[in-house]
Amino acid sequence: MRIPYWAGAFWGHPFRAVYTPPMTTAKPRILTGDTPTGRLHLGHWVGSLENRVKLIDEYECYFLIANMHAFTTRAAEPAGIRESTIEIVKDWISVGMDPERSTYVLQTEIPAIAELTWYLAMLLPFNRVMRNPTLKTELETKKAGENYSFGFPMYTVGQCADILIFRPELVPVGVDQLAHIEPCREVARKFNQLYCGVDPQTQDADAVKQGGLFPIPEGKVGRVARLVGTDGKNKMSKSLNNAIFLTDTFKQIKKKMGKMYTGRESVDQPGDINNPLFDYVRAFISDEDRVKELETKYAAGDNIGDGHVKVEVAEAIDKMLEPMRERRAEFEGPAGDEKILSLLREHTTRANAATEETLYEAKKAMKLDFGRRVLSFS
Ligand code: TRP
Repeated sequence: MRIPYWAGAFWGHPFRAVYTPPMTTAKPRILTGDTPTGRLHLGHWVGSLENRVKLIDEYECYFLIANMHAFTTRAAEPAGIRESTIEIVKDWISVGMDPERSTYVLQTEIPAIAELTWYLAMLLPFNRVMRNPTLKTELETKKAGENYSFGFPMYTVGQCADILIFRPELVPVGVDQLAHIEPCREVARKFNQLYCGVDPQTQDADAVKQGGLFPIPEGKVGRVARLVGTDGKNKMSKSLNNAIFLTDTFKQIKKKMGKMYTGRESVDQPGDINNPLFDYVRAFISDEDRVKELETKYAAGDNIGDGHVKVEVAEAIDKMLEPMRERRAEFEGPAGDEKILSLLREHTTRANAATEETLYEAKKAMKLDFGRRVLSFS
């Protein structure tokens, strides 16, 4: 039933006391994001960016620039973080995460995220946080020893807040990020049970129907869960120097592909189509018949050189990146940076509207409803 807009005007009318949050769209939501510590590469594309572009119209999308998290490992490099923040937004626009059809979320300007982080920190056992496998790996690879900051493990709680403050159904991420989604799901269940009276036996899918504030979000991994780097060994990663960036030129791509080691010695040696080179063939050559043909010839050692396959892959990647380069060209130089900053300011107001709403509801559930706060940002 639709309630006429004037119904609430009558003092004492039963509908008057009902507060209805503003509904933007009826679409389910997505929240995902990246930490601005470097440019995005092909691993990001196949692991998550591609999904974001595909789902942009089906969902109400919020894309987070985790610039606060960037400080957990680079507190001494504020200029670098600022530069990467702008670069990542350019990467996003270039891949087709259209800012006209989504909302970009600049983490440091969304106070509700930091606030919710505190409340959620109380619902996550310390040992649970420290058991996070992704966190453990990071602590090892960054060799921080005993001297890592308190804020470093805290970012995993922050990531729960990043997600839950938007109440999304879906979180498209690379496979290594799934370890962050799990505690987020746990903490959402806990909050719903503790403060919204949701029965612990409730199925995840029914959380909101049963009165919970937070849907239990699901992670969604892209079509290539883990793209190997051009070293043919490790996961593609900027810090391992084995990445092809979305901004690389054809020359750079060809050079990087050329270095990929397969161990094959001649054009008639039967090749292993499960080697890293063929992972790239399947990931980036879109013509399926051609992929099959290459696989058959390679497996048989039918007069086909690795060099040839590498060039063909490089061409396919280059073709895929071409429209991205074109979209990016609009944002070259300082004038481009200005455009990005003004876009972020505009989106911040929009993002804050959504997050303030959730925070208000969360605090209400926690009996912290002492009044309504109005945020202004300019
Ligand atoms: N930790 C993620 C990364 O480095 C970035 C991130 C922060 C994120 N908060 C998030 C991703 C919330 C998804 C959801 O890639």
